[in-house]
Amino acid sequence: MEEKLSIAKEMLAKYGQEHVLNFYQELSKEEQNKMLDEILTMDFKQLETLYQSTKTKPNFENSKIEPIPYVAKADLTNEEMEKYAKIGKEAIKQGKLAVVTMAGGQGTRLGHSGPKGTYDIGLASHKSIFEILCDNLKQAKEKYHVDIPWYLMTSDENNADTIAFFEKNQYFGYPKSAVQFFIQGKLPMIDTNGKILLDENGMMKQAADGHGGVFEAMRRNGVLYNMKEKGIEWIFISGVDNILAKFVDPVFLGLQIEKNMQTASKSVVKAYAEEKVGVFCKRDGKPSVIEYSEISKELAEARDEKGRFLLGDANIVNHQFHINLLEKISVEKLPYHVAFKKANYKNEKGEMIEATEPNAYKFEAFLFDIFSYVPDMLVFRVKREEEFAPVKNATGKDSPETAKELYENFHHIQ
Ligand code: UTP
Repeated sequence: MEEKLSIAKEMLAKYGQEHVLNFYQELSKEEQNKMLDEILTMDFKQLETLYQSTKTKPNFENSKIEPIPYVAKADLTNEEMEKYAKIGKEAIKQGKLAVVTMAGGQGTRLGHSGPKGTYDIGLASHKSIFEILCDNLKQAKEKYHVDIPWYLMTSDENNADTIAFFEKNQYFGYPKSAVQFFIQGKLPMIDTNGKILLDENGMMKQAADGHGGVFEAMRRNGVLYNMKEKGIEWIFISGVDNILAKFVDPVFLGLQIEKNMQTASKSVVKAYAEEKVGVFCKRDGKPSVIEYSEISKELAEARDEKGRFLLGDANIVNHQFHINLLEKISVEKLPYHVAFKKANYKNEKGEMIEATEPNAYKFEAFLFDIFSYVPDMLVFRVKREEEFAPVKNATGKDSPETAKELYENFHHIQ
């Protein structure tokens, strides 16, 4: 251990992060060991590059940004709907579909103390978000007589609480054997001077590495292998925070199979220029998404000759992939994007500082950066009121209150 400590000290000194060991002596032997392992396996060079990246804004000026072609559900004829539904149902019944829910986010905007999926949005049934989502799979089980495997991506921070919640609620009546959890990767959070923050235990404060971490985490945790063993071909991936997400959609799946696309995503028409959603586009001829935090005002507001948003297809984090693509992509490194967030930390005097304003950089890979690896994708434009009820903020727009109303309207609950 002494040797490990001296190498760790050397590494930290090289990168100006000596303060990381400030509370080392107060840690238990086990924690000390864990900390040294974390330091020794940390890519400080990468962290330095990431810190430098906080000083520049993403720039799309040198890229050619164009609208992306889409298929609107509303434009499909009854015959087309039936045809695609038949193809999709066949694949579902043959057990070729699996669902992944990304629930590793911090949910800082909602401010709920537990994992976001455990939140009760106030329905009369008091179903949690996880239970609402699970209803999708219970209904599919009844309709298609298959237990669609459900994989939930958690983070180091919320994995234990998530599993405990599922256990306590007996997996909401869905077979436990069909549910699997896996933990995503993490990266340290740094302050505005590039220094790694420490948590309440005096350890490095690490945060989930973004929803783009999902592919690598699926490989590292054997999820892709497990899917292959089960004969899964199609993987629907969505966030935990859209309570109208349609996990099992035969038309969407059938259309994707028919069009022979390894990647497909659902979109809804962007409601207003500054809506906090990413938008689909073509960037230098490749499918892409520009996140709301990275788009310029001009581009967000740009309209076409008919007065519609030029980039009007909002990303609702409903994606479907062929397993072959995920196997290929899971060994690639997606780029990291910078987020400026509130993070409590332990200062040099050992006092816990409660952040009231954003104070720390977090680095996140975005799932949609995978699109640059495919020549083309299917964007399926669906109706907002049928498939999009996000729970992001504690109050106001995209809050439990607005999501509840959308959910109740869709399900005709008075
Ligand atoms: P958001 O981008 O809304 O982030 O995630 P968030 O962390 O949940 O919320 P805020 O920004 O802190 O308020 C979109 C989806 O991606 C998942 C989230 O759980 C959510 O379902 N996600 C996000 C992960 O699984 N891991 C991550 O590292 C980030």
